[in-house]
Amino acid sequence: MEDGSLLILAIETSCDDTCAAVVTTGGRILSNVVSSQDRFHERYGGVVPEVASRHHLELVNAVVDDALQTAGIELRDAGLVAATSRPGLIGALLVGLSTAKALAAAARLPFTAVDHLHGHVAANFLEPEPLEPPFLCLIASGGHTLLASVEDHGGYTLLGSTRDDAAGEALDKAARMMGLGYPGGAELDRLARGGDPAAFDFPVGMRRGDSLDFSFSGLKTALVYKVRELGEAATLARRSDLAASFERAVVDSLLLKVEQALDSTGATRLAIGGGVAANSLLRREVADLCEEKGLELKIPPPALCTDNAAMIASAARFLEPVPYPGFLAFDAFARSAA
Ligand code: KG4
Ligand code: ZN
Repeated sequence: MEDGSLLILAIETSCDDTCAAVVTTGGRILSNVVSSQDRFHERYGGVVPEVASRHHLELVNAVVDDALQTAGIELRDAGLVAATSRPGLIGALLVGLSTAKALAAAARLPFTAVDHLHGHVAANFLEPEPLEPPFLCLIASGGHTLLASVEDHGGYTLLGSTRDDAAGEALDKAARMMGLGYPGGAELDRLARGGDPAAFDFPVGMRRGDSLDFSFSGLKTALVYKVRELGEAATLARRSDLAASFERAVVDSLLLKVEQALDSTGATRLAIGGGVAANSLLRREVADLCEEKGLELKIPPPALCTDNAAMIASAARFLEPVPYPGFLAFDAFARSAA
């Protein structure tokens, strides 16, 4: 590269999106390709791990080729290969990790294994408007919900995470109960705009206490009972109110812990990521909170909030690469090391 930076080829397959990207070590995105498997999982109302692995296997080579072509490079032009090695669906992770290791081995390139959650945090470090640590980061998606204290580029300290369902998972399950498609978070968001958030009094998990953990299973159960009580016709007729009230409870839970974490860490900057960061109520409330408290707020563009490989490349920029052949024995893990 003319500016002296190297090119990183990254692969991400921890859940149901097959992703590859080319990013410079300076943080400039040259390509960021995502092939979504949503339509394959829709009929099951959730991600089926074995189906996800098989589709990753079918798609990964084409997605990598697309990422290289869009960036206008060939594999030998890359200086580093990176892939998500944890946490996620083990079979899905293995496809991306093995592909990345094979590519790195073939081109005798160094390799870096990346934690997916570090990737979500590192989405904030990408050009054109990188956020510098320290900051507080909320990640809320279909697979995870956590609060991280980001003190430097190389990692994060976990302050709290969900004890049961992820925020997006709760929204998706609620959407399913209301007869919406999968994943239903975005549709529920739209439906909620026409509803009354005070129509139903849904519980906010972990309301009491200092813990920065989240819980959404009680809220989900409350909706199951409410839908049962209303019956099919009334549930359908009051879908907007149900959606608005449910969304209100999810956003209140997230904001409650964000505020507690801001107070306990004294952070002056807040970043939000994960698919749920697209939620309009959450965005509005978070923006109001930051304005009220005089905090800097960063929400990466939608393509960098949801799962993608540019964020994995971004995390790899700040980790120690392992030269060939040291990485060949690297394994995938379902759980995060944090
Ligand atoms: O990060 P992501 O694409 O994938 C992972 O789960 O890792 O997040 C997807 C989640 C789904 O649960 C989806 O319903 C939710 O993000 N989502 C939303 C919205 N758009 C996507 N939830 C609420 N409001 C939205 N506008
Ligand atoms: Zn994710």
